[in-house]
Amino acid sequence: MDQIIKVERLSKAYHKLGKKSVVAVNNISFEVTQGEVFGFLGPNGAGKTTTLLLMLGFLKPDAGEIRLFDREVDDMEIRSKIGYVPENPAFHKYLTGEELLSFHAELYGMNKEQRDKTVPEMLKKVGLEDAKGRKVSTYSRGMLQRLSLGQALLNAPEILFLDEPALGLDPIGIVDVRNIILEIQQQGKTVFLNSHQLSEVEKVCTRVAFMKQAKLIETYKVNELKESLEDLFVRIIGQGK
Ligand SMILES: Nc1ncnc2c1ncn2[C@@H]1O[C@H](COP(=O)(O)OP(=O)(O)OP(=O)(O)O)[C@@H](O)[C@H]1O
Ligand SMILES: [Mg+2]
Repeated sequence: MDQIIKVERLSKAYHKLGKKSVVAVNNISFEVTQGEVFGFLGPNGAGKTTTLLLMLGFLKPDAGEIRLFDREVDDMEIRSKIGYVPENPAFHKYLTGEELLSFHAELYGMNKEQRDKTVPEMLKKVGLEDAKGRKVSTYSRGMLQRLSLGQALLNAPEILFLDEPALGLDPIGIVDVRNIILEIQQQGKTVFLNSHQLSEVEKVCTRVAFMKQAKLIETYKVNELKESLEDLFVRIIGQGK
């Protein structure tokens, strides 16, 4: 199977004038195979979002290398194969949900006919059909999260990067996200999931990696675990605390 994500000896520190630098990612290496749902776990501040932003090319590494589909992360062709749900989604609030997805579909190069087909399908998939005519500024936290997921899926990405996708979702929304992830995996696509929701991670992920204080501690195959993910998390991350 192809290694669709390759991260080698990656490091990143944040520098602020007059303040001590924060090492967010410290010499981490891992690979993700096509078709995996890869869970990236660890406590607050461990470096998960920073790693994701580096993989998306939004941040530049201080050291190390990232390859997506064996190409550089800022390769335009690669970017068109990626979907991303950020930790804190922000949108043009004056648009309605439907207009916003249509706007993004246009950015992805879809013509009117394609947009008229894809956008309603996506609104249905993420459960926003009833709210499609409302301005995004009136959306609740969970509705924004759903919209963000819809936007990330519009271009049928080969790799979907999710940073806490279930944050703020109601139980139905959590199940929706779970089913969307599983559906994407069934299509042979790859998901990279940052999450604290271990019960969900256990249900969807094939493999998990643990980050702690900027370092990657260990990776595990989920179906080989001899204990619950929560117990493993407490054992691994709780050590030395
Ligand atoms: N823009 C920034 N400027 C300075 N420091 C930052 C910045 N973003 C993150 N950090 C620091 O880098 C470290 C890693 O943060 P990061 O957001 O990657 O963690 P995380 O694992 O995603 O945490 P969480 O689970 O809370 O989302 C933390 O110490 C954080 O304070
Ligand atoms: Mg984060």
